[in-house]
Amino acid sequence: MARPQRRLAFFASVVIDAMRDEGGKLIGFAKITRDITERRAAEEKLRRAQEQLAQSQKLEALGQLTGGIAHDFNNMLMVVSGNAQILKKRLRDARNLRAVESIELAAARGETLTRQLLAFSRRQALNPIVISLRQRVAEFRELLVSSARGDIKLIIEIPRNIWPVAVDVHELELALVNLVVNSRDAMLEGGTITITAKNVRLRPEDTLEHLSGEFVALVLSDTGCGIEADVLPKVFEPFFTTKQLEKGTGLGLSQVYGLSRQSGGTVTISSEQGAGTTVILYLPRSHSPVSDRRNIEEDSPGGNETILLVEDNPDVQEVAAMLLQQLGYRVLHVQSPNAALQLLASGETVDLVFTDIMMPGEVDGMALARQVKEEYPDIAVLLTSGYAKAANTRESGFPVLRKPYQISTLARAIRDVLATEPARLLT
Ligand SMILES: Nc1ncnc2c1ncn2[C@@H]1O[C@H](COP(=O)(O)OP(=O)(O)O)[C@@H](O)[C@H]1O
Ligand SMILES: [Mg+2]
Repeated sequence: MARPQRRLAFFASVVIDAMRDEGGKLIGFAKITRDITERRAAEEKLRRAQEQLAQSQKLEALGQLTGGIAHDFNNMLMVVSGNAQILKKRLRDARNLRAVESIELAAARGETLTRQLLAFSRRQALNPIVISLRQRVAEFRELLVSSARGDIKLIIEIPRNIWPVAVDVHELELALVNLVVNSRDAMLEGGTITITAKNVRLRPEDTLEHLSGEFVALVLSDTGCGIEADVLPKVFEPFFTTKQLEKGTGLGLSQVYGLSRQSGGTVTISSEQGAGTTVILYLPRSHSPVSDRRNIEEDSPGGNETILLVEDNPDVQEVAAMLLQQLGYRVLHVQSPNAALQLLASGETVDLVFTDIMMPGEVDGMALARQVKEEYPDIAVLLTSGYAKAANTRESGFPVLRKPYQISTLARAIRDVLATEPARLLT
């Protein structure tokens, strides 16, 4: 009676050797079978690791490229939008005003685009403050709901004991809007978006970037259509989109990626086709107390203090000086940090040094800021940049105004800096 044979499937390497006697006559075959399941698994793991490495190197290279382009565009856009704002104040004729307004609108679109590119390349000038995600995300709720659709339910559940994180609040808000919009587009029949967070301890093997230590994982998941396996590795790339023209720019997840990385964390995405998508932003735990909420009124008037403007690009300098004068400030301008130091040494009264960060020469804006803090502790410092090496700005403790800026943002930033005690400002 034949016993039913149990079949065990495994990956095998089989070697068959012909066996011959002394005269060379074939007398049979020898067969060696080796179980190579483990070797296959190890090879598969290596292949995946190599793929992931190639993927992150690709993102890195793309970042270098986009960052370089965006930087130059920011200076140009600053000139376009600044001059448009100035012209608008001078014009009376409705048709001229309309023309200027459309220039402004186009410049604003360009700004958004460069902002996203800079965000992706992690060269955005960020203003991280220490926040509680529980508080802040709750404040974004209304905006997030309006970014979704009526047939989509939004659940926000962030525990009370969540660790504080240091992050740029505007960029975080934008990141969440980008994620919600993606989920919305993936849930044409309606569905649920859930935002949660938890405290986690990362080990190097947990993330591609080998992060380790204490992080907050901000998790957004949806019940949408999911992402196909071969599309998934590409979604963080700038301009990668599966949406129709006009519907998607392919920059949403790039911004999320850039922000997380620039904030010292990272982002992961997991998805199964048909089973929804989960995006996790990891942000490093901050050990500082949550910042006080600043009560800033919307329309901040200027003042009559003296501002020393340090900017090497003459067009940007001209437009910045005009905006400052329009706010009522007395403006002195120089083209280099060295010239600024000379002017300060001459005993000129200056209340605030407003300097670009990136400048040619040995002393850049950051070094100037440090020196002013050292030698003239009473003088406030405001940095500006369209482009900032992340680490520098984050560690400097100086506020940074992102270029290009609107006159209202400029007014607020200057008033904030002037109102802050020198000792508190310079941490
Ligand atoms: N929650 C999601 N569900 C399904 N697909 C998604 C989701 N988020 C992102 N994607 C995919 O990733 C692509 C890139 O997203 P993104 O960078 O935001 O650009 P865009 O939304 O402009 O296409 C999308 O086109 C889509 O294919
Ligand atoms: Mg998107």
